[in-house]
Amino acid sequence: MKLAVSGKGGVGKTTFSSLLIRTFNQMGKRVLAIDADPDANLAAGLGIENSEHIVPISEMKELVFERTGAQPGSIGGFFKLNPKVDDLPDALSATFENIKLMRLGGVKKGGAGCICPESALLRALIMHVVLARDEVVVMDMEAGIEHLGRATAKAVDKLIVIVEPGRRSIDTAEHIRRLAKEIGLEAIAVVGNKIRGPKDQEFLQDHLADFEFIGFLPYDDALIEADLNGISPFDAISPSKARIKSMIAKL
Ligand SMILES: Nc1ncnc2c1ncn2[C@@H]1O[C@H](COP(=O)(O)OP(=O)(O)OP(=O)(O)O)[C@@H](O)[C@H]1O
Ligand SMILES: [Mg+2]
Repeated sequence: MKLAVSGKGGVGKTTFSSLLIRTFNQMGKRVLAIDADPDANLAAGLGIENSEHIVPISEMKELVFERTGAQPGSIGGFFKLNPKVDDLPDALSATFENIKLMRLGGVKKGGAGCICPESALLRALIMHVVLARDEVVVMDMEAGIEHLGRATAKAVDKLIVIVEPGRRSIDTAEHIRRLAKEIGLEAIAVVGNKIRGPKDQEFLQDHLADFEFIGFLPYDDALIEADLNGISPFDAISPSKARIKSMIAKL
C-alpha cells in the first residue's frame, strides 16, 4: 500500500503519519517512511533517536553529483534525469524496528517546477519507492504534492489530506485536490484532526461534503504533551491510536 499525507501547515500531518507508520509497524508490516517535507521531522515523530542528525538526501552533495553527474544547485546544465536510485532506500535510511525512514530535504525552487539535479534525484527516488518497493510506503508531504508526478500518481493508493476545523485547512484541501487531479490522482480521502466535539466534525463534513472521510481524531492533549517532550505520539496514551487502527481497516 502506498499512501501520501498532505494538508495545511500545522494540521497534524506528521502526527498522523507517525501514528499510521507505527501502527503498521506494530501490525508486523515493513514500512518505508518518507519525510518529504523540508521542515518536518518525521523521524522524531516516529521515535528515532538523534533524528536531528539525519542528513536529508538533497543535501548529500557527493551523492547528488555521483548519481546525476551535476553539482546540486546548478540549474540548466546537463545531468541525468533518470539517475540510479534503487539502492538508496536500503543504504540511506534510518531504522526503527520494521520501519525505514528517508529524509528527502528541500530543493531550491527555480520558477515553474525546478529542474535541478537534486530534484531529479528525489523524483526518481519517489518513483522507484512508489512503483518498485513492496513495503507499505507512507509519505509525509508539505501542503502540496510537490514530489509526485503523472507517473507516480497512479501508483499512490490514497492521498490522505489532513484537515482541522477551520476555513484555511478546507481551502487547502480543495487546492490539494485540484493539484492532484492535474496529475491524474483521484484517490483522495480526508482525515479530520483536532476534533473538539460533534460541531467540529459536522463543520468539516458540511464543508467537504464531496470528499471521502476515512476518520476523525479528537483534539488530544496527550499528543501535544508527546510533542513537547520529544516522544513519539504513538508512545503516548491516546485514544487516537485505536482510531488509526480502524482507519487502516478502511484503507
Ligand atoms: N489531534 C491533535 N490534538 C491536539 N494537538 C494535535 C493533534 N494533532 C496534532 N497536534 C499538534 O499540532 C501541532 C502540529 O502537528 P504536526 O507537526 O503533526 O502538524 P504538521 O501538519 O506536520 O505541521 P507542519 O506543516 O509544520 O509539518 C503539534 O504541536 C501537534 O502536537
Ligand atoms: Mg509536519
